[in-house]
Amino acid sequence: MQIQFLGHAAFALEHDGKTVLIDPFLTGNPKATVTADEVDADVILLTHGHGDHLGDTVAIAQRTGATVVAIVELAGELKESGVENIVDPNIGGTADLGFVTARLTPAWHTSTTPSGTVNTPAGFVIEMGDKRIYNVGDTALFSDLALPARRGHIDLAIVPIGGHYTMDRFDAVTAAELINADQIIPAHYDTFPPIETDAQAFKADVQNAGFAEVIVLAPGESHTLR
Ligand code: NI
Ligand code: MN
Repeated sequence: MQIQFLGHAAFALEHDGKTVLIDPFLTGNPKATVTADEVDADVILLTHGHGDHLGDTVAIAQRTGATVVAIVELAGELKESGVENIVDPNIGGTADLGFVTARLTPAWHTSTTPSGTVNTPAGFVIEMGDKRIYNVGDTALFSDLALPARRGHIDLAIVPIGGHYTMDRFDAVTAAELINADQIIPAHYDTFPPIETDAQAFKADVQNAGFAEVIVLAPGESHTLR
């Protein structure tokens, strides 16, 4: 599987000719290396409705016909906005799209969309190919980050480290211990001044503690998960 970092909290997972986009905030994202007009998508996973995650979801879904997975209140707004293919689980529920499944997990954060729809933020446990990826979403540090690994081995986790709106890089080290993944990709940092941080220091702290291998991706870079 190829995991491409699209900047901020946006990722593209590619496996077997299928593309899963996560939180495709591209227009207005100072770190984006692709535009909303040029990304592929079969499925779009939305952790929550803040503008830096909802992003270009409606335009990309309308152009590509991608199925959007979002928590039920956010899904309702997307339907009103003209997105045709939607799966609307709540926390704990799993969307099964055939080649990929995505289970919503809790995240400690807030969320209202730019249009005003209040929605509960979530993370995702994603199973695709024979890999399991835990994208914890925008969240503070909390102990239940340890729970998904009890159900099944986590190959890779995506973790925010920028602070201010989410956990910072120090709490993210504790999160790395709890999540118990083989590999971690840091996200949600250096996009805007309030969330500037030192990703290489996070990498050193996590790896020196022996919690996981950390892969720091520049926007546009890809990681091959074997
Ligand atoms: Ni947010
Ligand atoms: Mn955010």
